[in-house]
Amino acid sequence: MAVDHEFGGQHTDIKLSIVEKYLSAYSIALRGKFSQLWYIDAFAGTGARTVRHEAKPADLWDPEEPARIEQRHGSARIAIEVKPGFDLIVFVDSKPAHIAALNDLAAKHPGRSIVVVKDDANQAIRDLVRNQRWQSTRAVLLLDPYGMEVDWSTLEAVAKTKAIDVWFLFPISGLYRQATRKITSIDEHKQAALTRILGSEDWKAELYSDSGQSEMFGDDPRVRLEDVSGLEKYVRRRLQSIFPTVLKPLPLPVSRRPHFAVPLRVQ
Ligand SMILES: C[S@@+](CC[C@H](N)C(=O)[O-])C[C@H]1O[C@@H](n2cnc3c(N)ncnc32)[C@H](O)[C@@H]1O
Repeated sequence: MAVDHEFGGQHTDIKLSIVEKYLSAYSIALRGKFSQLWYIDAFAGTGARTVRHEAKPADLWDPEEPARIEQRHGSARIAIEVKPGFDLIVFVDSKPAHIAALNDLAAKHPGRSIVVVKDDANQAIRDLVRNQRWQSTRAVLLLDPYGMEVDWSTLEAVAKTKAIDVWFLFPISGLYRQATRKITSIDEHKQAALTRILGSEDWKAELYSDSGQSEMFGDDPRVRLEDVSGLEKYVRRRLQSIFPTVLKPLPLPVSRRPHFAVPLRVQ
C-alpha cells in the first residue's frame, strides 16, 4: 500500500542528493576494507517523498499544466540503490504506516539483507550498538529527524563504537526556538529537552550572558547573545567533544537554516 510522506522542501532535494553522493563514495571507499559494511537509517520514513505540484494556467510560453503528485526517492530507497550494495541495511521508524511501507520496500528486494525495526530511534540505535561486535563491521548512520528527537546519549553510544560514521541533520531551528532570548522564558520542560539533545547543562553558561540590565523582582537577567551561527559553533564544539572529526556543516536551506547537515567521522 502506498503511503504519502510529504516533508521538507527544496532543501530536501539538496539534502538527499548529498546523502546519495556521500553513500556512494562511502561504499566505494570502504568496500573490502571491512568484512561488513552497513547502512543504518534511524528515521527512515517510507522510502519515498511525495511532492505535490499545483496546477499551472497556460501562459505565453507554456501550455496549461494539471496538478500532479510526484514520488521522489527518500533516503531508504537511495540507500538500497547504492552500488556496491551495503551488506546490511537497517531501517528504523516509529510510525506504523511508515514501517508498513518500509516492509513493502524490503520485500521488493528479496536478495538483500534489510532489517526493518519499529521503535524509537534512540532505543533502536542503543540496542543495535550494544548487541553488535564492531571490530570488523563499519557502518554509516543517517540521522534525519523532524526535530529534536536525537538524544545526546545516543550520539555518545554511537561514537564509542569507533565504527559508525554519521550524517546528522541537526535541527538548528528547533534549538533556536527552544533556546529563547531570555533564559527565564525557557520552562523546565524545554530546559530538559535542551539538556537531552546537547548532553549537558553547559548550554546555559555557553549561550547565555548577563544582559547587564537589572530585572524587576530579582529575575535571572541572562539573555542569549548568540545568533544562529553562534548556536552552530556551540553544537559543533559539543559534537567535537565525542567524535574525532566533525566536518564543516552545511546549512539547509542555505538561506533560512532550519537544519544543518554535519558529517561526523569516527576516524
Ligand atoms: C524527516 S523524516 C525522514 C525522512 C527520510 N530520511 C527520507 O528521506 O525519506 C522523519 C521520520 O522519522 C520518523 N520518526 C519521528 N520520530 C521518531 C522516533 N522517535 N524514532 C524513530 N522514528 C521517528 C517519522 O515517522 C518520519 O518517518
